[in-house]
Amino acid sequence: MDMNNNIETAWHYHNGTKHPNGSLLSRFHFYNSANKPNPYKIYKDLPSIALPIQKSEKDFSALKAISANIKLKEGRQIPDLNVLAKILYFSGGITKTINFPGVGDVEFRAASCTGALYHIEIYVVCQDVSGLEAGVYHFNPKEMKLKQLRKGDYRRVLVNATANDINAENAPVILIYTDIFTRNTVKYQTREYRHAFWDCGTIIANTLAISSAHGLAAKVIVGFVDKQVNSLLDLNSDKEVSLALVPIGFTKNVSGKNVPEVELLNVKTEPLSNYDIDDPEIRRMHQASSLTSVNQVKDWQGNTPKITIPLNVGNVIPLQPSPENGMPQDSLESVIIRRGSTRQFSLESISLQQFSTIIYYSTRGTPTDFLKPYGNSLIDLYIIINSVTDLGSGSYFYNREKNVLELLREGKFRHVAGKLGLDQALPADGSVSLFLMSDLNKVLKRFGNRGYRAAQLEASITGGKLYLGSYTHRLGATGLTFYDDQVTEFFSPHAKGKSVMFMVIIGKKA
Ligand SMILES: Cc1cc2nc3c(=O)[nH]c(=O)nc-3n(C[C@H](O)[C@H](O)[C@H](O)COP(=O)(O)O)c2cc1C
Repeated sequence: MDMNNNIETAWHYHNGTKHPNGSLLSRFHFYNSANKPNPYKIYKDLPSIALPIQKSEKDFSALKAISANIKLKEGRQIPDLNVLAKILYFSGGITKTINFPGVGDVEFRAASCTGALYHIEIYVVCQDVSGLEAGVYHFNPKEMKLKQLRKGDYRRVLVNATANDINAENAPVILIYTDIFTRNTVKYQTREYRHAFWDCGTIIANTLAISSAHGLAAKVIVGFVDKQVNSLLDLNSDKEVSLALVPIGFTKNVSGKNVPEVELLNVKTEPLSNYDIDDPEIRRMHQASSLTSVNQVKDWQGNTPKITIPLNVGNVIPLQPSPENGMPQDSLESVIIRRGSTRQFSLESISLQQFSTIIYYSTRGTPTDFLKPYGNSLIDLYIIINSVTDLGSGSYFYNREKNVLELLREGKFRHVAGKLGLDQALPADGSVSLFLMSDLNKVLKRFGNRGYRAAQLEASITGGKLYLGSYTHRLGATGLTFYDDQVTEFFSPHAKGKSVMFMVIIGKKA
C-alpha cells in the first residue's frame, strides 16, 4: 500500500494531538515567550529586489473580494511588480507593531497566526513580468524585498509537479507557502502540524481576496509532488516544507514543454529557528501525506466526494444577508489593515443581518484542486449563538447551499462555548462561536492522508474569510483553540463522526 493510502497515520496524528489529553502532547512542555524564534527567514548573500508599496488607485469591497471567483480567461491577467507587491504585503506583510512591556516590539502581520509565531514563508515563481525578471524568489516581509534564489523561468517544474493543473499551466506567477516546523512547535509541540495549515489558510484567504480585487484568477493547489517543489526552493524538508501553491493570473506565455533542470543551490540562511528539536510525529505525518509521483497527483485531482447536507425542514431559519448594494463597502485593503484578533468581547449582540452577511459571503466557495465542482466543500459549519438580535440563543447547523440555519438545540450556551474553547473567556463573551468541522472518515477515504491537509486548509481559509467579513462590519473576531471531542459531543447526534478543524468567535469588541 502506498503511504498516502495508509490513513491510520492521519488518525494517529489527529487523535494523538487532541486537547486535552492527546497521547502525542507532553504535559510538561513549557514555552517561554522570551525564547520566541526570529519570525523571519533571512537569506544571506542573495540579490534583492525592493517591493514598491503604492497607494491603491481603486477601492475594492472586501465582501465582494472574499466571495468572488475570478475565472481563468483569455486577456490580460498578468500582475506587474506593483500588484505582486500588494498581493504579498496584504497576505504576509507587517501591518502593525505593538510594544509589550517586558517583551518589546511585536510585529503583527496581515493574517492571524497562532501565537504570533509566523512560521509560514512565501515564495514566488514567475515568468518575466513588468518590473521583475523570471525567477524563483523568497518574500522578506521585514524588508519588503524579494530575494532571488534562481534566475530564469522555472514555472514548468511546478506545472509538472501539479500534473499539469490548468491554473498552474497558465499562471504568470505562482506563490508557494512553506512551513518552518520548529518556529511553531516551540510553543505548540506536535499540534504544530495542524497550525501549519491554520496559519497558512488565513494568509491564503487574504491572497485569494486581494487577487480577486485585482481581477486575477487564483486557485489553491494542495496536490503536488512534494519533493519536486521542495527541491526547487532548496528546502531542508526535515525542517521546512511546502504546504500549498497558489497560481495567480492568466498568460499565453505558457512555460516551455521541457522541465528545466533544478540544480542544488545550497543557499545560506540564518538559522531557521533558535528552537531546533525535531518532532518525529510531524515528520511522519508529513511524509505519510506526501505525494511521490505525478500519477498520484492525477488521482488526487478527481472529483470531491459529494457531501450531502441533511436538511431538517422543521426548524430552519433563513439567513438575511445584505444585498450587494446594501452591504458595507469598506475596501479590502482597509479591512486587512485594521484586522486583528479581538482580545476581549463585550456581551452585546450583533444584528442578524451582520451575522448573515458575514456567514454568507465567507462560504461561497474556494477555488482549489480538491473541491469540484466549485462551491463544494469538505467543511460543515456548526454554531453556538449567544447573542444575535432576532435569533434565539442555541446551537445551530448552517446549510450553506440553502443559506439557512437549522436549529439543533435551544438554550443559553455561553458557559458551554467558553468551556469548548479551551476554557477561555472569548467564546463565552462573544456573540457567536463557529466550529468548522469535517467528516474526516469520508475525506481520508477519498484523498488518503493528504486529505487531512486539504480539510485543515479549507477550514482555515474559510476562517480567514470570516475574520475579514467581521472586520468589514467593524466587529471583532478571533481564531481559537478547542477541546476536540467535547465539541463533537456537544453538536451530536448531528455532528457524530465529524472532527473540528478550526474555530472562530465573532462579536463586538469590548
Ligand atoms: C487558528 C488560530 C487559533 C487561535 N487560538 C487562540 C486562542 O486559543 N486564544 C487566543 O487568545 N488567541 C488565539 N488566536 C489568536 C492569535 O493569538 C493571534 O492571531 C496572533 O496573536 C496574531 O495577532 P493578530 O491576529 O491580532 O494579528 C488564534 C489564532 C488562530 C489563527
